[in-house]
Amino acid sequence: MISIIGSGRVGAAIAFLCISNELDDVLLINRTKSKAIGEALDISNAVPENSNVSIHGTDDFSKISGSDIIVITASTGIYLKNRTEMMVAQVEMIKQIANQIKKYCPSAIMLIISNPLDVLTFIFQKETQLSRNKVIGIASSLDSSRFRYLLSEKFQIKQSKIVNALVLGEHGDSMVPIFSRVKINKKNAIEIINEAEKQIITTEIQNYWKSLRIFKSRSQFGIAKNTFDVIRSIIKNEELVIPASIVLNGEYGEKNISMGIPVKINKDGVKEIIEIKLNESESRSLKISAQTIRDYIKSLNNQ
Ligand code: 2OP
Repeated sequence: MISIIGSGRVGAAIAFLCISNELDDVLLINRTKSKAIGEALDISNAVPENSNVSIHGTDDFSKISGSDIIVITASTGIYLKNRTEMMVAQVEMIKQIANQIKKYCPSAIMLIISNPLDVLTFIFQKETQLSRNKVIGIASSLDSSRFRYLLSEKFQIKQSKIVNALVLGEHGDSMVPIFSRVKINKKNAIEIINEAEKQIITTEIQNYWKSLRIFKSRSQFGIAKNTFDVIRSIIKNEELVIPASIVLNGEYGEKNISMGIPVKINKDGVKEIIEIKLNESESRSLKISAQTIRDYIKSLNNQ
């Protein structure tokens, strides 16, 4: 069973993908019970004929017991300028969820989607003491999808012609697009994109969610699909290499934070952390990004 905590736009979209692709039964949990039940009633009609999967909604945490995967999309409110705006309230919320998980389902693989992503992934792993391989923050793959999209628009080519567009580090203003590995129509990106253009694209990726919000209240489908891919990889035990946030223990020279780096996922969660070669300026930016996350975590201790 897949339990999804938070049945807003993102939670519901993930549930819809899991159900319509018959991955497994889904349980939607929301503090407003009627919202969870309503989404479940709607998505129930997307169960393919002859399928055994089902979806239900509840506000009762004890029902998560026995879940294989738990996805956390819950949020305490709307942030407008920065993903860390609601950090203190979000951290309080993730600690409460961690307590419920410890009580009812400590052996599930946990996927964190709520913001600020890296801080919450770190706090959640510390609170639950689950193996770090089973606590995965999903966001850098979304940022990478945005990198790929922006390059495809700039060069007016299909997204399939953009290879290795990878964004690492914080899911926040310090995220780091890795230009040195990108191929655009089989050419090295760094040979065809100059420094000024790189800076513009970097800012566009970092601010993508804000531009999107001019047209739509918040992002939904991109993160839902990126999360669905991880759930499928776990359930079907099909290896998937993506950037995701995981608590670091010396990898990339970092400790005591969670941050987006390339990982290999399979049925056990993160099977392997992949250390890729970065150029000097990318390594420097990644250090700054790591320090940004560390500072946020430290600021919590000083509350
Ligand atoms: C996003 O990047 C807001 O984190 C959310 O779309």
